[in-house]
Amino acid sequence: NEDGIGDLQGIISKLDYIKELGFETIWISPFFQSPQKDWGYDVSDYLNIAPEYGDMSDVVRLIHEIHQRDMHILFDFVLNHTSDQHPWFQESRSSRKSPKRDWYIWRDGQGSRPPNNWKAQTGRSGWNFDPGTDQWYYASFLPFQPDLNFRNPDVKDVMFNIARYWLDKGVDGFRLDIFHCLFKDEYFRDNPWSYHLLPKNAMAGFFQDWRFNSNQQDTIQFAHEFRKLIASYTPERMLLGELFGDNDVIRDYLGEDQKGLNLIFSWELMDLRINAGHFRDIIRHYEEEFPDPYTPVFVLGNHDSKRLVSRVGENLLFAKLLALYLFTLRGIPVTYYGDEIGMSDVHIPGKYAKDPVGKLYKWIPEFISDNLNIYLNRDRCRTPMQWDKSENAGFSKPGVNPWLPIHHNFTHVNVRSEALDEKSFLNIYKDLLFIRRESKAIQEGTIELINCPDNEDQLLAFKRQSEQEVALVLINLSGTDCIFNNKTECRHAVFQIGSHDISSEGQIRINPWSGLILST
Ligand code: NOJ
Repeated sequence: NEDGIGDLQGIISKLDYIKELGFETIWISPFFQSPQKDWGYDVSDYLNIAPEYGDMSDVVRLIHEIHQRDMHILFDFVLNHTSDQHPWFQESRSSRKSPKRDWYIWRDGQGSRPPNNWKAQTGRSGWNFDPGTDQWYYASFLPFQPDLNFRNPDVKDVMFNIARYWLDKGVDGFRLDIFHCLFKDEYFRDNPWSYHLLPKNAMAGFFQDWRFNSNQQDTIQFAHEFRKLIASYTPERMLLGELFGDNDVIRDYLGEDQKGLNLIFSWELMDLRINAGHFRDIIRHYEEEFPDPYTPVFVLGNHDSKRLVSRVGENLLFAKLLALYLFTLRGIPVTYYGDEIGMSDVHIPGKYAKDPVGKLYKWIPEFISDNLNIYLNRDRCRTPMQWDKSENAGFSKPGVNPWLPIHHNFTHVNVRSEALDEKSFLNIYKDLLFIRRESKAIQEGTIELINCPDNEDQLLAFKRQSEQEVALVLINLSGTDCIFNNKTECRHAVFQIGSHDISSEGQIRINPWSGLILST
C-alpha cells in the first residue's frame, strides 16, 4: 500500500520480476503478528498476519500466485522462541502455577545470580529475571524472545499443528530459525570455558563453548520427526535449517539416510578472501565432508550480514565473480534480495538503529566493530529494494518516507537502469540463472577441481559434469592475466564476466578480474 514498509501485496506485484530473473523458490522473513521488536522474529500469533503486511487472503493469494508461476515458497518458522507479548508467555509468566508455566524455560536462580552460565547468542546471560514470580526465564536471542520448552510435549504438538496449518494452506516448507538452539541440556549444566570471545560460528563465543545450550541430540531427533511430518504431505515440501555446528552434527541433522532436514545453510561464502586457493578449499571441503547426495546451500548474503558488495569493499568485479562461483558450485545457491543488482549497505549509525541488536550495541564505536569485523546494526543491509531512479527508488510513493533510508546510489543501482546495461549485476544474475537452468551439468553434475600450478592463488578452475554434458568454469581473482592450458573438451565460452582470449591451440588468457563458463 506504499506506506513505506514492504507488504505481501508488494511482493505479489513483483513475482514476475523474480520469476523472469530465473529464481525458483522464495523464502520470506516472518510476516506473522508481532510487536516487531525484532522485525517479525518475535511472533505473537503464528496463525495470523501482521496487519501492516496484509491479511490471510493476501497470504493465500501469495501462495497461489507463486504456484501459478511454477515456483515454490518457504515461510520462516521461528520455533525456538516467541515474543514476550505472545499470550502463551503472558499466561506462563502470570504465575508459577500457570498451566502454561512449563511451556517456557523457568528456573530458580542461584541467590541473586542466574541459574547457570549460559550466554545468549547476542552476548549477555541468556537468563532474565522475572520479579513477578521470582524466577528466571531463558532466551537464546534477546530478552523479549523467551525460548519455548520443547521438552514439553504440548509445545511440540502445538508447533507441529502450526506447521500443518500452513502446509494445508499450500506452503512448500519452512526456513527454520536458529534451529540449533531448540533443545537445551536437560540437567542445565554450565557451558565449559572457551578462548573464543567473538562468536565465530555460533558454536562458541563470549568465552564459552555452547555445548549445553545448542545442538542437543534431541534437536536432531526433532529434525527427523519434523521431516516425517513434512514428507507426509508431498515429496517436494522441505525444511531448510538455519543452524551452526561442526560437520558431524550437520550430517546428523540431515541424516545419513537423508531423512532429516532436507537442507541446511552453508556459511562458508560469508567469510571471503581474495584468493583462488580459498575458494578451491571450499569445494574440496564439501566434496570430502558432504559428497553427493548431501547438497550444500550456499549463501553470499542475508538479512543478518553485511551486503556482499560492501563485504568485498565495493570491488564490483570480485562481487560479480562470486556470483559466477555461487551459481556454478554443486549445491543450491541462495540470493538475498537486492544482491542481484549489487546493492550496498547503507551507513546507519547505531543511535538510529531499528534493529534490536544494533540498539543493544549502539555504544560500541564503529571503528571497533568494523575492525573486529562484527556486524551490529543489521538495518544497514535491510534497506528498501531499489527499483528505479524515481523518488524513494520506486519502493514507496513520493513524499512517503520508507522505513529505512535508501542508498544514495539508487539513481544508478536500480532494476530499471541495470536492465539496460548488459554488463550489470542484474544481467549477470539473469544470464547465470539461465545457464544454470539449461545445464544439467551445472544443476546436478559432479564437480572436479583442476589444478592451476602456475597461478594457484589467482586462478580457480573446475569442471561440472553430468552424464550428457560438461561445463568448465574459470575465474581469475587477480589484477593480472592468467593463462589456462585447456585440456578439457569444453571449447566454447557460453558466459563471461570481463574478457578473455582463446587461442587456436586451446590456450585461454583470462584477463584481470574476469571469468567464464565454457561448454563443449
Ligand atoms: C536469526 C534470524 O536470521 C535473525 O534475523 C533473528 O534476529 C534471530 N534469528 C532471532 O530470531
